[in-house]
Amino acid sequence: MKDNVSIIGAPHTNVNHDSAVKHVTGRADYTDDIALPEGTLHAYLGVSDVAHAKLIGIDFADVLAVPGVVGVITANDVPGVNDISPTHLNDEPVFPTDTIQFHGQPLFAVVAETRDIARRAAELAKIEYKALSHALDPIAAQEAGYPHVTAPLKLERGNVDAAQETAPNRIKGRMRVGGQDHMYLEGHIAFALPGEDDDVVVHCSTQHPSEAQHMVAHVLGVPSNAVVVNVRRMGGGFGGKESQMNLFCAVAAIAAKKWNRAVKIRPDRDQDMTATGKRHDFVIDYDVAHDDDGRIQAVDGCFAARCGYSADLSGPVTDRALFHADNAYFYPNVRLNSRPMKTNTVSNTAFRGFGGPQGVIAAERMIEEIAYATGKDPLDIRKLNFYGSGERNITPYHQKVEDSILDRLVGELEETSQYRQRRQDIIAFNKTSAILKKGIALTPVKFGISFTATWYNQAGALVHVYNDGSIHLNHGGTEMGQGLNTKVAQVVAEAFQVDFSRIKITKTTTEKVPNTSATAASSGTDLNGMAALNAVEQIKERLVKFASETWGVAPNEVVFLANQVHIGQDVLPFEAFIKQAYLARVQLSAAGFYKTPKIHWDRAKGQGRPFYYYAYGASCSEVTIDTLTGEYRVERTDVLHDVGRSLNPVLDKGQVEGAFLQGMGWLTTEELWWDDAGRLRTHAPSTYKIPLASDRPRIFNVKLADWSENRELTIKRSKAVGEPPFMLGISVFEALSMAVASVADYRECPRLDAPATPERVLMAVDRLQKST
Ligand code: MTE
Ligand code: HPA
Ligand code: MOS
Repeated sequence: MKDNVSIIGAPHTNVNHDSAVKHVTGRADYTDDIALPEGTLHAYLGVSDVAHAKLIGIDFADVLAVPGVVGVITANDVPGVNDISPTHLNDEPVFPTDTIQFHGQPLFAVVAETRDIARRAAELAKIEYKALSHALDPIAAQEAGYPHVTAPLKLERGNVDAAQETAPNRIKGRMRVGGQDHMYLEGHIAFALPGEDDDVVVHCSTQHPSEAQHMVAHVLGVPSNAVVVNVRRMGGGFGGKESQMNLFCAVAAIAAKKWNRAVKIRPDRDQDMTATGKRHDFVIDYDVAHDDDGRIQAVDGCFAARCGYSADLSGPVTDRALFHADNAYFYPNVRLNSRPMKTNTVSNTAFRGFGGPQGVIAAERMIEEIAYATGKDPLDIRKLNFYGSGERNITPYHQKVEDSILDRLVGELEETSQYRQRRQDIIAFNKTSAILKKGIALTPVKFGISFTATWYNQAGALVHVYNDGSIHLNHGGTEMGQGLNTKVAQVVAEAFQVDFSRIKITKTTTEKVPNTSATAASSGTDLNGMAALNAVEQIKERLVKFASETWGVAPNEVVFLANQVHIGQDVLPFEAFIKQAYLARVQLSAAGFYKTPKIHWDRAKGQGRPFYYYAYGASCSEVTIDTLTGEYRVERTDVLHDVGRSLNPVLDKGQVEGAFLQGMGWLTTEELWWDDAGRLRTHAPSTYKIPLASDRPRIFNVKLADWSENRELTIKRSKAVGEPPFMLGISVFEALSMAVASVADYRECPRLDAPATPERVLMAVDRLQKST
């Protein structure tokens, strides 16, 4: 920290989120807060009430008769290509032309003078269709012979069949893992302003402004240079706004150009939940062979996912599930297959962890199976199978694990959480407590950092220094609450050696940085921090050259330090120096760029180095269940998480805490439930339960592994933090599992499916009690 004492807000110090005060006082501007120009129209989606059907026609007579309705937008109004798929051509229409693919699918939009009029009028359309049979989940889809939405992936190493034949022990099982709604506070929203000629400007809440720009251009049939997409901030994205905003941007832009008026579209919460994609639920079949000590010898896993009706991001999501099906464990022989199944449900999408959590939980289930089969503490089975250094370190995708810190990290958490003693105490407690039962689990996480689509691992930034010495920072990343802008501004402040407050953080716009990637894969700071640093370095190089020539000193005698510039014996305030540089006609603006080194990936071969590095963490949770009702609570959680050399410990801790709770919600109370007609019945907070503040662990000790440093040359040796701690929530799930197992004296692996709602816990208790 010594090198940073000179300025306020440097990297590795606790700087509040730049918008923290605005967030809590309601002064932060979101898309919905933008002042509307005179004559703004409002659009609302009309949706299907059938899961799969031939679309015959839509009668809009009653809709158009409503006073205030200006018109409707259907597939026929798409001037360009009726397709907004982020990955496949002609895979996802704005509105369908002949087939309805899921219950709640947007079929048209009503455009009216007010949002309320549009919303009510949308109900009046008469949709004529001929129902077809539907398949809602991956197993039904397989039975119905449905296709994959995208090519499956296979990862293989060693000889699974041979290893299985000779192995002394083999366990086969199936695990169902539910999906998850993003439940961002701010829902989807887009606001389009028509301009002259082809032009349109769209303000919206997307993690991926460049993609929204390209989609709007594609749909309007205009070049990308006619479209500007702006995002100041999102009220949460969590992956749900990586691709799903494309629809809303397209509808707003089509309507804005059609009527040459500004158009805003904002679904209500129920429509947001039914019409946009969620986390993929999975059905995982595993076959694990192990020796008598509990060492894994072979793993064969098949990962079938409910992808919904179109591909969207299901390819990279199901790929990432396979990339994480090892979690922290070495599989000497392994074969993993993905089955990205088409289903008649909303098209599932990115969600924090991006398929990784579904892979990790399969690995943890196999560990549990082995622990119950061998009668050992699951933590011992975990440690026995950790990736080693030098040998036993090759992943199923042939990347070497060379940076594992799990031995130390898990060892420390085991000590500080007093895991061993508490486990003994809990086993003793369970012997005497008839109704309440406890469980404890300590689970590790290893998460690969980089987009597996290698070309996504690039970023740009634009930095201006104005001649009063104030600094304007822009980069291609988007702010969704994670604190990206704060961290990047810290990096810029340090590089110029000025206080953080001198840096103006500005909205993300496709006009300043082109061809950006989604702010996703936890890589926002890694990529944009480096790009911004690159821009600053270019400006500084020019400034150093100017100073050394003008003052007649060596370049190394020009030093930026603590809001000043030292030039030989002279010391100038930063702004005075900048004014002189301006008068001497030095260019004070630069575009920066960065691309992640070392990574490569051959999907056809299933080999490469898709990840630049890994982030690690571990958590230990203790729960109590009530065996009469299935209700439970989390008594205590201890977390030790690796963020390398933290750029901002207070923000990183916030990410770890939030991710843990979101992961816990996914595995406990958040249940998506479709009825037989394919209607999502859990489409509002009344029926879909995210954790409340009161559901948090009663004792919650969260620590960053402050001794960790990224071995790779990342920004200030930090590590990505957005997604990896999501999987810390798995310790709650495994602790619940132990509490359940206690009713049958831990003889049997309870095979809980996720989410382990109180009902599922109760049914598992019941099942185990009957089997004894
Ligand atoms: N934190 C907040 N507060 N809100 C969010 O929407 N999204 C998560 C994570 N943390 C999210 C968040 C997801 S899914 C990702 S990929 C990362 O933030 C993205 O930001 P980063 O790459 O800058 O970490
Ligand atoms: N993670 C998150 N989002 C993505 C990825 C990924 O690996 N690839 C494409 N979009
Ligand atoms: Mo995060 S799921 O990569 O947006």
